[in-house]
Amino acid sequence: EKQGFKHFMLKEIHEQPGVVRASLDAYFNNFGESSESPINLGLPADLYNNLEQIQIVACGTSWHAALIGKYLIEQLAGISTQVHYASEYRYAPSPVTANTLIIGVTQSGETADTLAALAMEKERRQGKEPQYQGQLLGITNRSESSLGDMVPNIISTLAGIEIGVAATKTFTAQLMAFYALALDLAARRQTVSKDTLEKIINGLRQIPKEIEATLETQERLTEQLAHEFAETKDFIFVGRGINFPIALEGALKLKEISYIHAEGYPAGEMKHGPIALLDAKVPVVAIAIPGSVYEKVISNAQEAKARDSRLIGVTPVNDGEAAEIFNDLLPVSDVEELLSPILTVVPLQLLAYHIAARRGLDVDQPRNLAKSVTVE
Ligand code: BG6
Repeated sequence: EKQGFKHFMLKEIHEQPGVVRASLDAYFNNFGESSESPINLGLPADLYNNLEQIQIVACGTSWHAALIGKYLIEQLAGISTQVHYASEYRYAPSPVTANTLIIGVTQSGETADTLAALAMEKERRQGKEPQYQGQLLGITNRSESSLGDMVPNIISTLAGIEIGVAATKTFTAQLMAFYALALDLAARRQTVSKDTLEKIINGLRQIPKEIEATLETQERLTEQLAHEFAETKDFIFVGRGINFPIALEGALKLKEISYIHAEGYPAGEMKHGPIALLDAKVPVVAIAIPGSVYEKVISNAQEAKARDSRLIGVTPVNDGEAAEIFNDLLPVSDVEELLSPILTVVPLQLLAYHIAARRGLDVDQPRNLAKSVTVE
């Protein structure tokens, strides 16, 4: 069943190009002269009407996907979006307007905290107060689940069954759902031009083969690095903008399966505290993608280097400052910054995988974790 891979997690990492292809086929197939949007999510028209605000609830890796979703929805469609830990939101829900869409993201469709937050919102809507009219939407890899039973609208993510407890391909599938949703909203609200829309969609179509290229080069590089870092005690991951959530995800993957302490930070925040942690024993993984924050990330990386940290760069750049600063490079293809998270997460998944495998750990069944957590 593992098709020659040593663990399900590694197999699932390698399935990501196919997940992106399946998502493109399913969501981006609505090119009619008369269609309002090139995207087809099968959602009712009234879900899009007069949308003023979006609140997203999720846990773990799904919460990271939601942070990227927020970035995409705000930057492309101009709708104010907040992302909440479901476990926090249920006891302190945000005030909402009548036209607030609530989105619950859970790959399993069974996470108790996420379901409870949505149940609370559902109840608010069944009450008398007129401000609670906005709809509920679920994004899940299992539409036949408790989530599917609870909410009227679902975007099905197309990862196929994921066996490894640490989410990999379901995360990529969630990102694809958010690209589709954000672009759909942008097309309908005409917040981006047709040309831009087309350019982004064409860029997405290139992603599967870019992931394949990344997988090919990274397998060996991450395995080599894993050899050196198997006994490392602490790791820091930094990124900015749309790649800040990828820094969080890289750190979470490492924690979950290798039990190494790891933190993800927005690179600009390092100087406000976490920089005190740095020395030669604490490697820093920096995601540096050309675009709006590249120079900033490089200068944040320079600050880490000055504290003797070993620097690992996830970047398409292999000359100039990047070549000078980074001790090790995990190269990714040069794609638009907006699309880069689907690529930058791949070397971080592989790095976590190879470190855990090197440490001889049970990669697919890490201690204390379960694939779906059905208790609060
Ligand atoms: C945790 C898992 O318990 O649940 C994480 O260990 C996962 O890997 C999180 O991201 C959320 O799960 P789901 O199914 O709601 O996306």
